[in-house]
Amino acid sequence: MTLADVPAVSALEQSLFPVDAWPVQMFFDELAQPETRRYLVAEGPAGIVGYAGLMCIEPIADVQTIAVVPDREGRGIGSTLLTELIDEARRRRAADVLLEVRADNPRAQRLYLRFGFQQIHIRPRYYRDGVDALIMRLPLVPEAATETGGEPPTEGNRP
Ligand SMILES: CC(C)(COP(=O)(O)OP(=O)(O)OC[C@H]1O[C@@H](n2cnc3c(N)ncnc32)[C@H](O)[C@@H]1OP(=O)(O)O)[C@@H](O)C(=O)NCCC(=O)NCCS
Repeated sequence: MTLADVPAVSALEQSLFPVDAWPVQMFFDELAQPETRRYLVAEGPAGIVGYAGLMCIEPIADVQTIAVVPDREGRGIGSTLLTELIDEARRRRAADVLLEVRADNPRAQRLYLRFGFQQIHIRPRYYRDGVDALIMRLPLVPEAATETGGEPPTEGNRP
């Protein structure tokens, strides 16, 4: 996401998050902190169809926002954006990725569960309209540990 994308992103934000849309200045403030932030847009032939952002202050990365325009949902754009955010969190050596999601947003929760996020807390009445927030966490296993896996095979285990 560049500064030039902000007006279009902000217009989408107003329509997708009617209760708690970010003010446009928030996007400018976020883009002004590239040392701890990474923001992405997904583009189709007619313009921006999704956006997402990550904050990473070691050892925690936070999904700040993720959204896809309604008529392009269910085609993997949200999954692609989330994959990029998680890859970025790994590159920045985060130990965990955290996010908040509305308790009444099962579609987003399914997306996060599919990626291995688990619910760790509930913040009652976190949102302005009184809905609870679920706090979810994805622990990031260091790559070296994934490659070696658990116990090394022993001679005795071979057929
Ligand atoms: C939550 C959100 C970002 C998901 O984005 P998306 O682009 O629809 O996500 P995906 O397409 O990757 O996955 C959504 C569904 O489509 C399915 N899907 C993905 N690619 C597919 C494909 N090529 N063909 C068929 N189905 C597909 C997924 O399996 C998933 O199914 P599920 O909901 O039953 O689990 C989007 O719904 C959104 O912006 N919602 C409004 C804003 C919002 O709630 N943001 C989250 C705030 S915490």
